[in-house]
Amino acid sequence: MNHLIAPSVLAADFANLQRDITMVNESEADWFHIDIMDGVFVPNISFGFPVLEAIRKYAGKPLDVHLMITDPDRYLEAFAKAGASVITVHYEACPHLHRTIAAIKDLGCKAGVALNPHTPVHLLEDIIQDVDLVLIMSVNPGFGGQKFIQRTFEKIRTLKLMAAERNNSLLVEVDGGVNLSNAGKLLSCGANVLVAGNFVFTANDPKSVISDLKNLTPG
Ligand code: DX5
Ligand code: ZN
Repeated sequence: MNHLIAPSVLAADFANLQRDITMVNESEADWFHIDIMDGVFVPNISFGFPVLEAIRKYAGKPLDVHLMITDPDRYLEAFAKAGASVITVHYEACPHLHRTIAAIKDLGCKAGVALNPHTPVHLLEDIIQDVDLVLIMSVNPGFGGQKFIQRTFEKIRTLKLMAAERNNSLLVEVDGGVNLSNAGKLLSCGANVLVAGNFVFTANDPKSVISDLKNLTPG
């Protein structure tokens, strides 16, 4: 499968959101990555439903919703109704992850689980067969523009070995500090979805940066 590119709207210009969404629509990007932060699970607040609905109105590609919130079960239905195609919850925020994943699927969405940098991938041993996607955080969640954590490469390799045994169709997504100097290696480790925020939106020509990420070969 060719890899997917998911620009993170968190790094867009919120005063020119429609312009930035149009740019992504016209680019070779595959998904919109939407970061929802509650100020409790992570030390930052991003945006909520009114902004998400505004994004949805113009977005011509699937919405990949990354929930950095405690007790996400309360809001799953609302995010599905707001147009999410993928809903990813954090392993660290879900005491009943199996139930949460089932609830996301019942809403007709793809179900993902995200791991903080300190959370080992082997903790997914008994849930990997039930999820559509695993999101490996390559920075501590909460902010865009942070430095990529090198350990991520090894985590992806380990996860891909687990997926080969238990879930062949698993998508492995990497989020945080992704740019052209680590993306090739991420692909060769087996990443399927690359999220990129600042690297895309602070570029002079964001569309060509998206194209570069999309047309990159592993290595
Ligand atoms: C961080 C978010 C990321 C962030 C990525 O908590 O989950 O999606 O927007 O931004 P960059 O690519 O700038 O690290
Ligand atoms: Zn994210």
